[in-house]
Amino acid sequence: MLDVTMRPEPEEDGRLIVVSNRIPRGNVPAGGLVFALHEALTGAGGLWIGAAEPTEQALDGLTPIDDGAAGGAYEKATFALTDREHRGYYLGYANSVLWPLFHHRPDLLEITEGDFEAYAAVNRRVARAIAAIAKPEDLIWIHDYHFLMVAQELRNLGVTARIGLFLHIPFPNPNDVMALPQVAALSPWLAAHDIVGLQTRRDVAAATETLRHDPKVQILPNGSLARGGRQFRVLSFPIGIDAEGFAATARASTPPELQLADGAPLLIGVDRLDYSKGLVHRFKSFGEYLSRRAPGDARATFLQIAPISREDVSAYQDIREELEQAAGSINGAHADLDWTPIRYVRRHIDRDVIAGLYRRAQVALVTPLADGMNLVAKEYVAAQDPDDPGVLVLSHFAGAAEQMDAALLVNPFDHGSFADAIETALTMPRADRVARHAELMQGVFEEDIAWWTRVFLSRLRMVTPLPQTTY
Ligand code: G6P
Repeated sequence: MLDVTMRPEPEEDGRLIVVSNRIPRGNVPAGGLVFALHEALTGAGGLWIGAAEPTEQALDGLTPIDDGAAGGAYEKATFALTDREHRGYYLGYANSVLWPLFHHRPDLLEITEGDFEAYAAVNRRVARAIAAIAKPEDLIWIHDYHFLMVAQELRNLGVTARIGLFLHIPFPNPNDVMALPQVAALSPWLAAHDIVGLQTRRDVAAATETLRHDPKVQILPNGSLARGGRQFRVLSFPIGIDAEGFAATARASTPPELQLADGAPLLIGVDRLDYSKGLVHRFKSFGEYLSRRAPGDARATFLQIAPISREDVSAYQDIREELEQAAGSINGAHADLDWTPIRYVRRHIDRDVIAGLYRRAQVALVTPLADGMNLVAKEYVAAQDPDDPGVLVLSHFAGAAEQMDAALLVNPFDHGSFADAIETALTMPRADRVARHAELMQGVFEEDIAWWTRVFLSRLRMVTPLPQTTY
């Protein structure tokens, strides 16, 4: 067996090659995965590869993006894909199979003939493009569920460079994995990396359990896993945000006037419109809170910003309808001539305005049913005034809950206890708010995006490049 010895002093490193499906053109949006990767590459330099706009024909190779947005710190390039591949790879296998499965919703799987073949074709094309340029001393960092097969393809093409995967989403439950038609392939896909990075310890446990079911995988006493004669590691690296930068943006932001009655509290939620975010449960729990109000009680307003996402996938059309119905019926039951309890905004709102709204809101509801991390939780904390902070209501099912236990943790499925938590948050004495916030803030500032990048890349650098192996 090849020993993947961790070497203390890394030898000369080559280039960092990052792959993610989304790649920004022009200005980098100030949050989420793409911002994290922009930060990582600005520090480390290298090449960022992402998907081009779909076209009729897709040729091999990479096309440089020359938009000046990287400020010369790193390079960007795209790989091509056809319209048909986009449907099968992105809308199909990635977002109608892997996304629901990894978010614990096997009931939402849409397994369509040809989608996996498109996914495999795109993964192979990406691997060929990387293999054509990668040197043995390079670090290849693959992001997310769009590219689970790329490392295996790279190894098939003889690439010996160190390869890390970071999965931004949860790892599926070992039982749900059985719903994946390619379940037998998952273990060799993962084993082709040197490091498989996940958000939480809970995800590491789920992945290890799944891998344990593969009779070819061995768990070694040093915690490494071995398959096919080589070792790899599954580790957690909770992603962070640019806390300093976001706090500064929030301080500088003047949010628009919301026309709330004097002293009326504001709650906020900001999510991509996705069934994993638990928006219907959140609306119903807020409705439950409202139904317990006495006539003279404060008129709280819940502002939910939820821009539409992946609208060509039917599960996303369904959640949109369901949410609109829930908002309508709750507002119908509780609204008054001068008060709309739920304000539901679907259009895009700029990040600096959102930062100011976070600072303005007394409570944030971050209550997904499943979420890799959820950076809104961290951004809300960073945006607060430490002397008079708001309260974070956070779902147990957000990866962030593993680090942020000073938040008010809720079970989003239990509307009654969720409504209790809203009440507790809205009435929490200032000293308690300050103490909880101080604890949360320390974590958000210490384990920020620069920390995450450093820790992941230094772990990947410690891996000894492998002699050529074929899978
Ligand atoms: C999640 C995923 C990312 C994805 C983002 C936006 O955060 O982990 O990989 O880019 O959602 O989704 P979209 O499908 O619009 O890229």
